[in-house]
Amino acid sequence: MGSEGQVAECRIGFIGAGGVAARHARMLGEFDDVRLVSVTDLNTEQAGAFADEHGMRTVPGVDQLIDSGLDAVYVCVPPFAHGPAEEAVAAAGLALFVEKPIGLDAEVAERIAGVLRESGVITAVGHHWRYSPVVDCARQALAERRVRLAMGAWLDKVPPVPWWARRTRSGGQVIEQAIHVLDLARLLVGEVVEVSAVADASPPDAPGADVDGATVVNLRFAGGAVGSLAATCLLAWKHRAGLEVYADGLAVTMTEDSVEIRDRSGPAVRGFDPDAAKRAADRAFVDAVLGRGDDVRSPYQDALRTHRLACAVTRSIDLGGPVRLTEDRDARR
Ligand SMILES: NC(=O)c1ccc[n+]([C@@H]2O[C@H](COP(=O)([O-])OP(=O)(O)OC[C@H]3O[C@@H](n4cnc5c(N)ncnc54)[C@H](O)[C@@H]3O)[C@@H](O)[C@H]2O)c1
Repeated sequence: MGSEGQVAECRIGFIGAGGVAARHARMLGEFDDVRLVSVTDLNTEQAGAFADEHGMRTVPGVDQLIDSGLDAVYVCVPPFAHGPAEEAVAAAGLALFVEKPIGLDAEVAERIAGVLRESGVITAVGHHWRYSPVVDCARQALAERRVRLAMGAWLDKVPPVPWWARRTRSGGQVIEQAIHVLDLARLLVGEVVEVSAVADASPPDAPGADVDGATVVNLRFAGGAVGSLAATCLLAWKHRAGLEVYADGLAVTMTEDSVEIRDRSGPAVRGFDPDAAKRAADRAFVDAVLGRGDDVRSPYQDALRTHRLACAVTRSIDLGGPVRLTEDRDARR
């Protein structure tokens, strides 16, 4: 983090050099207290192009990355590839930013969470919606009011990455994508205690696809509120992604770049730059690593709860019945 007399800087390495890593590197590159140092990717060509673009150097693997003089590591691998990278980074005592979803299923994420808990390193997960001014507006409007109904949606196309449409690679649309909406619902409404989900298993039209084409989920929250989530990946465009919440006399509709707040006096709509939340998530992580701030809004242990919820949805579909999430495993530790 820079020696005495020098301006503190956060030295960062990347594991995975794909689409989301490029976004983080672009945003981190705008901060004058960040140095992008090294990158590793199984696809060495991809790593080389990424390193050239962001003024970094490539290294052959995670061990060499850890030895390259870092304060923090961004893990930007697909869902199926989580595990060894996080464990090695935690063992080295480096801070860790992990992209969502934190695993393909609950098992790997629970194991990593245990390792991270023991290590005590600073963690953050890419649930950047938590930093959105949209969400700030919603929270302000809701103030002391209790949300009674939440309705989430993620209606989209299959993203252009080869692993996405394969269940054993991505975990499916709810775990990989609609998890942002589930995380937001947890933030605004509270913990979910029961889910019941059904899916249309016909996959989207993509090579090797076997993920569900459409999913509907019912949610019951600990405070008594009820909710739903609808997701489809059958479109050729991003149609809508967001969450509506309803309280006594108040309706709040959130998307990535807008919020509509409506009470008996009528609607008020505001628009925002969707990149603001993404940038703020990176900024908060860097500040935490540099010891200047404490505003990581999605540390790994909290993201684990969102991940358990998304995995419960998938389990409910597989079992053909409701799944309860009553056990507070973290509280018992
Ligand atoms: N928070 C967000 O808004 C957001 C946006 C996009 C993607 N994501 C998430 O980021 C993750 C990556 O998505 P992406 O679009 O960048 O995918 P991508 O396919 O573009 O990139 C993933 C990269 O990881 C590399 N990789 C795979 N296994 C590896 C391993 N074991 N070690 C090193 N490198 C490995 C691949 O070669 C590839 O270059 C996904 O989980 C996705 O859900 C989050």
